[in-house]
Amino acid sequence: MSVLKKEPTRIVVLVSGSGTNLQALIDASHNPEFGVSIVAVGADSGDIEGLRRAERHDIPTFVLPLKDFSDRAAWDVALTAAVTEFEPEIVVLAGFMKLAGPAFLAQFGGRTLNTHPALSPSFPGMHGPRDALEYGVKITGATLFVVDAGVDTGPIVAQVSVPVLDSDDVETLHERIKAGEREMLVEWVGKLARNSFHIDGRRVVLGRPLGNPSKELA
Ligand code: GRF
Repeated sequence: MSVLKKEPTRIVVLVSGSGTNLQALIDASHNPEFGVSIVAVGADSGDIEGLRRAERHDIPTFVLPLKDFSDRAAWDVALTAAVTEFEPEIVVLAGFMKLAGPAFLAQFGGRTLNTHPALSPSFPGMHGPRDALEYGVKITGATLFVVDAGVDTGPIVAQVSVPVLDSDDVETLHERIKAGEREMLVEWVGKLARNSFHIDGRRVVLGRPLGNPSKELA
């Protein structure tokens, strides 16, 4: 029997760009059976469509540009504090183009998800679609993973594959990846939120969080 939580899982989403992955989560969360409440959206830049999407749905937002802080460590502490205010159970980095720092991981490690537009462990970093195209692979895709201190190295939740076509440029390939990425994100954020999860080595396992029985709600 699956373990279903009674209250929707509180999720903060961080974005840096157009926010189509965020939009997919917002749309899904309108169905109570999805089991997710997006309690805030944060960004590292004020002038992005991702924030507008949140505002159109009356979701609270906050913006923390890196340049407003003396260094990356100070920004990391401020981001951690801003997210903490909304008391999320899960944080989703949906096209958030900054690495989570030590303060953030101390607070949200093991419950922060990120999506990467490549099939990990191939092509980590900022340019997954470009690097896959340049390498000449015939299949690429997207990876949902639990964030750790590395670059796109955390335990894998799910992956989706798409073909690379001879006619592709970086943009067409990334758009095809993003279509699959959005479906994967919605499916698995929902599953993780409704069932809870824990990490066992490199595996992400649905069910009771290890060492934190108070988060088991049913
Ligand atoms: C996604 O492909 C994400 O994996 C990558 O940037 C893209 C963000 O797209 N890091 P969007 O802002 O959700 O439309």
